[in-house]
Amino acid sequence: MIPSSRPIGAFDSGVGGLSVLRALRAQLPAEDIVYFADQAHVPYGPRGLDEVRGFSEAIARYLIAQGAKLIVIPCNTASAAALKPLRQQYPELPIVGMEPAVKPAAEHTESGVVGVLATPTTFEGELYASVVERFAQGVTVLQDACPGLVEEIEAGRANGPQARHILEAALQPMLAQGMDTVVLGCTHYPFAFDTIRDIVGPGVRLVDPAPAVARRVESLLAEGGLAAAPGASGRTRYLTSGDAAAMQRRIHELLGKDAVVEGVGWLNGEVHPQMNTDKHR
Ligand code: DGL
Repeated sequence: MIPSSRPIGAFDSGVGGLSVLRALRAQLPAEDIVYFADQAHVPYGPRGLDEVRGFSEAIARYLIAQGAKLIVIPCNTASAAALKPLRQQYPELPIVGMEPAVKPAAEHTESGVVGVLATPTTFEGELYASVVERFAQGVTVLQDACPGLVEEIEAGRANGPQARHILEAALQPMLAQGMDTVVLGCTHYPFAFDTIRDIVGPGVRLVDPAPAVARRVESLLAEGGLAAAPGASGRTRYLTSGDAAAMQRRIHELLGKDAVVEGVGWLNGEVHPQMNTDKHR
């Protein structure tokens, strides 16, 4: 029996998962959440499935050791690499992953042309191949990995000139082919929403699966009798394997919150708490 007072564990390569955390906080105000940003290794996108799987499994072990009652992976790349093995390793633990939202996009497109923005490792995974195979029959699916965009967002330039340049290069050829729906298949990309909207114009639908992920977490908590006591005021604990002060600034810019960020380190492939409290400033 997993006590309902334990936190939800969430992880991403960096700040991307904050776009899902925002939806989780709105949907589940009573839950405590531990958010882990693996900024020592960001970006995950170009690293390949095996390496990202190794990081993801170690982070999941750490979050479980912190008492996580449910793991949510607000990262399409880590989900592509590790969702299946993690579910095999922890059959009792509810684990919610993400996949590019090709299904709703294919259901809603009128032109029959959908664009997916995601990372190379996400495009490489079985999960992506299977959503396209199952849900996009008869629909043209265009893809772009937006090289460099995650780095721009991590650096606090989600809507800066370089991000715009990367997004124009991805989206303009898709628009020229009649695309009417864009899938935000990387959790970093909703932070570039204004630039994406500006490039595609008001008539193109942008699909961000974050609210659906939050609803899925809510229903699994309810099914498992794991939901926190209603009315409780849930806290968020932020951990990073990168620069805690920089993460703190990003959280302020992206979520408008003043958060304390704890530094953690990697040692021999495992996550460890960091003793150096200077890093916590
Ligand atoms: N935010 C991640 C995703 O949803 C990973 C981005 C990256 O680190 O490349 O895919």
